[in-house]
Formats: sequence, structure tokens, C-alpha cells
Amino acid sequence: MIKETFNPNPELAANAAIKNMDEYWALQNKALEDYEGFWKEYADEKIDWLAPYDQVLDESDAPFYKWFINGKLNVSNQCIDRHLADKADKTAILFEGDRGDVEQITYAQLSLRVNRMANLLRNEFGVGKGDRVVLYMPMIPEAAYAMLACARIGAIHSIVFGGFSTEALKDRIEDAEAKLVITADGAYRKGKPYMLKQVVDDALSQGGKSVEAVLVVKRNNEEINWIEGRDHDYNELITSQHAECPFELMDSEDPLFLLYTSGSTGKPKGVQHASAGYILWAQMTMEWVFDLKEDDVYWCTADIGWITGHTYIVYGPLAAGTTTLMFEGVPTYPDAGRAWKMVQDHKINQFYTAPTAIRVLHKMGEHEPEKYDLSSLKVLGTVGEPIDPPAWKWYYETVGNSKCAIVDTWWQTETGGHMISPLPGATPIRPGCATFALPGIIAEVIDPDGTSKKVGETGLLCITRPWPSMIRNIWGDPERYKKAYFGDAVKDGKPVYFSGDGAVVDEDGYITITGRVDDVINVSGHRMGTAEIEAAVKKDDSVAEVAVVGRPHEIKGESIFIYIVLKEGHINKDIKNHINALLAAEIGNIAKADHIIEVPGLPKTRSGKIMRRILRSIAKHEEITQDISTLEDPSIVKEIETKAREA
Ligand code: PRX
Repeated sequence: MIKETFNPNPELAANAAIKNMDEYWALQNKALEDYEGFWKEYADEKIDWLAPYDQVLDESDAPFYKWFINGKLNVSNQCIDRHLADKADKTAILFEGDRGDVEQITYAQLSLRVNRMANLLRNEFGVGKGDRVVLYMPMIPEAAYAMLACARIGAIHSIVFGGFSTEALKDRIEDAEAKLVITADGAYRKGKPYMLKQVVDDALSQGGKSVEAVLVVKRNNEEINWIEGRDHDYNELITSQHAECPFELMDSEDPLFLLYTSGSTGKPKGVQHASAGYILWAQMTMEWVFDLKEDDVYWCTADIGWITGHTYIVYGPLAAGTTTLMFEGVPTYPDAGRAWKMVQDHKINQFYTAPTAIRVLHKMGEHEPEKYDLSSLKVLGTVGEPIDPPAWKWYYETVGNSKCAIVDTWWQTETGGHMISPLPGATPIRPGCATFALPGIIAEVIDPDGTSKKVGETGLLCITRPWPSMIRNIWGDPERYKKAYFGDAVKDGKPVYFSGDGAVVDEDGYITITGRVDDVINVSGHRMGTAEIEAAVKKDDSVAEVAVVGRPHEIKGESIFIYIVLKEGHINKDIKNHINALLAAEIGNIAKADHIIEVPGLPKTRSGKIMRRILRSIAKHEEITQDISTLEDPSIVKEIETKAREA
């Protein structure tokens, strides 16, 4: 079958960091021949080492891999100080507020603000190396200052996405035993102020006893509750802080941050990233995948509460010394042209967003991009979920005017940075395809026993060699780390990292991601465990049993579909609103379900295992092809189907 393929724009390829597939294969072969030598070369070139490392990779305690042993660095130095000699007046962060207010923060100003914030944390709140600081912040520059200030003094930040509920925030604060919470009164969205501080107050009134203080940035100046002694006003305190804060000498392996994410079982996991390997790969992928040039202006629309915001709004762009746009609002407000107007106004060169956003922008304004001058664009990125070919085509043709590279970047919270992605100057791209593993990344599609899948066969997407920016641990739970990531597949007798995704390789070696093969669903690029949603639903007294599955959704990629069995004698007339209110409180609005139906029972095997595949088929209104004769009660399937059809 001939596949639709688009070759790189020759103008872009001529000056690209990696100019063609021969260069790509040369790099990848170099990594295969001398893995440690490959990484050493980049570590030596890219990182401002404050003391040299004495070993590249230590595999002796696998899967607890260590990189750049005994090396010393500081990530805020890597992102700020080392640029001051030649980039002091270059814009580091270009901020656009929801209401159109714009602020340019140069590297010199960023340095001053981060130093002051670091002094504030260190001197006023006694935050030091290894302490955990939770950030519950809107998309404002102070969020980036706080991240970098933590990095400067060696504190470990844990950002909780501003859409998470009180309960979710409390759980994350408690798991990390955070000493300080940094938040804001709120911010602006769709022209109106919204509030955040109350969620912090509620979380801390219910628990989070480790928290000694709350630092509050004033953004919208709306009235907020204030607890004397515990709450501190950032805007007031920051002005008197000293302009210089000597940075802490950090070990390569010292944790840089925690970021909680969902797995297929249990509560969210605190993914722990290390300093040197993470920042090295964040910087390298910025340079390769976005093909950055000195005067480029780069925009990633993610929220800093997700890994994309960490690596590709703050750490990667700043380590690479570029200008990164940070946007407080939503790309569809005041109208579907907002994002394109911003591209025009700021002459954006690289634009990075999620398939859901692309589908929304497409649906709301198919011809909207044509009204703006988007000629500055060179690279268009997508991340977080599979992109369907129609959305890809619109992005390529209408937004990119058929001359931009589309980089469909596959990666995860755990991988720290891009793993599989086209390279803008080299890779012939195909709609909906993440293409090839980046140089240095060994991605394989295998069976659990390590056998390579044949061309066209779906298998487990595994990374079969450790890589510098990989997850180091699950905070406080090394056993879960081993089991969750290294418990499903082996290669040559050794456990290898399994991503939870399925993938397929075609005859040309192109890798296409087929989606999660575990019980994780992806709604608008937000990753959620079905077990986590089920646990929240079970908190309702009337619920006897619950099963959650994903259902394909035109815009969101997937939506949540919930089957509920009520306890005997319970009637719940308004079950959908009732359960959705519970999910909003327990997890956040992102966990609300599109479908919630009450059923008389769930399809179970005689050993009591719920047959989710059947429930997934029913949610999709697909015909049931599975053998249901082994079910405890096969007649239940018809009853559930009838209910689902009515929903
Ligand atoms: O299923 C894959 C999907 O998002 C998951 C990772 O989610 P998270 O850790 O929240 O990180 C999202 C941002 C990196 C993956 O296991 N995913 C991510 N990128 C892609 C993708 N699925 C298909 N294509 C992608 N480009």
C-alpha cells in the first residue's frame, strides 16, 4: 500500500540540526554502537557541569538506573545564569494574559526574579535541598519563577494542575509531605477572573499537615480568604529580597521534581525525575524536534500542570536559550482566531499543541487561520493523544500552508521528553504517525517475552535501554515503580520499560501509536486511570459496583463511560449529575463522564473478573464478538446493551 507521505520543506532541511534521514540513521547507529559514548558527547557539549561526572550510566541496580554519576550542576544555572553573558537582553518568557496584556521578560529579568524568589523560599520559609514544594498555579510567569527558584535551592517541586479538586490536591500534598504551597489568588480565563486559593484553603483544612506556609501570588486581586500566620503575600515580600541567591550544587541524580500521574491501578503516582539527565534531554529535544534557531519565538499551549508544560514551556526552552511564550488564556477566546492572531502578533516559529485543541480549532473555525499571517510558522507540533488523519491534514494544509513540518511527538510524563517523533528537516511525515524513535532512544514493539512483532502487528511499545530523562522512581514507592514499568516485558531476559501503549511498525519502519493497552484513558490529552475514577464513584453510598471504560469521542479523543450497579433498595433518579458532582469533587472537572448508566449487573467471568472488553464494545455500540458463554450470567450482556442504547 502506498502511504501518503510529505517530504520535509527543503528550505527548512537545508539549515536543520538534522538535515536528512542519512544523518538521522548515522546518529542512531552511533548510539547503537556506543551507547554511553553517544550520551557522553552530548552531556559534555550541552551541560554546564560544575563538577565533572565520573561515569555515564550505572546499571548495577537496575531498573534504578543512574546517569552521569557524581556530576554536579544546577538546573537554574543551565536555564538562566549561563545565558546571561550573551542573552541578558533577549526575551526569555513572553507572556500574554487572557485579556491580551503582554509582558516581555528578558533573561536578565528572569534571573533577578528567580533569584529573589529563591531567596524568599530559602530565607523566609526555610526551604532547602530536598524539601518538597507544591505549586497550585495558573499560567502566569510566577509559576515559572517558582519552578526555577526551587531548582536553584535544590527543593523538589510538585505541580498540581489547577483543574484538580481539593481532594486531589490534598492527596498530592500529603503523599509528597510538602512543606510549602505556592498558589495565586486566581487568574483570568475567558475574560473573567477565576479563583484558586480557596481550593488550597479547603485542602489544608482537610489535611496536608506537613504544610507550614502558603505563598500567594496576587494576579486578579479578587477578594480571598486569608489565614494570618500561614498565608504570605508574594507581591509584598518579593520586593525586599536580595537580588542574588547563590545556587545549590546539585548531584546529577538529585530529584528535580515530582509530577503525579495516573496509572492503571491505585492512586496517582509521584513520578520522580532527576536533574542532569532530564535537563540534557529537554534541551536536546528542543533543539532537534523544534529545530530552534537563535531568533525563534516558540509557543507551547500546554499547562504547566502537565509534563508538557514542564519540559516544553519552561525547562527545555530556557535551557536552549530560546523565547518561550506563556499564555494564560484559552486559544478559542474571544474567538476561534485567538491562537492564530497570537501566532501573527508574536511571529511564532514553532507552535505545539494537543490534537483535542486542533480538533476544536478546526471545528470552530475551519477557515480562521486564513485570516491571519501565519508565514512565520516553521514547525507544528502535536502531543498527548493519537492525532486522527483529518485533524492532521487540516493542521498541515490550512495552518501550516503545506510547508511546515508536523512533529507528532510521542512521549509520557515518565519519559521526561520526546521519544518518538519526526525531525522537521529530515523525516518524511505521514498523517497520524509518530514515525521514528529519536536518536539515542531504543524503542521496540514486542511481545511480553521480548519477541519483536512482525510488520503490521500491534505489540507492546517498550523502551529497551535506559535513557537519561527517564523516570527514576515513584515517590516513596520503589516496589510500585518496578512493577508498574518493568513488570510486563523482558528483552534478552532483562525487564524493560513498558509504556502502557500499543504500537505497530510498518514495512518502512514507521511507528504508529495505537493507544493505551492498559486501563488508562485519555480524555482531551488528560490521562486518567479507570481504577482511580472507579474508586471515586465507589465513595457514593448507593453504589454497589462500578466499571469505567473509555469511548471514542470526536473532539476529546476519548470520553468517560461509567456503568453503575446500585445497592439493593437504592434508587437514583439523577445519577449522572449526582456522580459527576462527586467526580468533580474527588478528582476535578476533567473526570466528569459523558455517559453514566445504571445497569442490573456487570459482565463477569465465573472467577469474578469484570470483562471490560465487553463493556468497551457496548459503549461503542459495537456488536459483541467475544465469547460470552464463559460469563457467570451471559444474559446480562443483552440487558446492558439495551440500557446503553437508551443512554
Ligand atoms: O497514550 C500515550 C499518549 O499519552 C500518554 C502519556 O500521557 P502523559 O503522561 O499525560 O503525557 C502526555 C504528554 C507527553 C501516552 O502513554 N500520547 C502522548 N503522545 C502521544 C500519545 N499518543 C499518541 N500519539 C502521541 N503523539
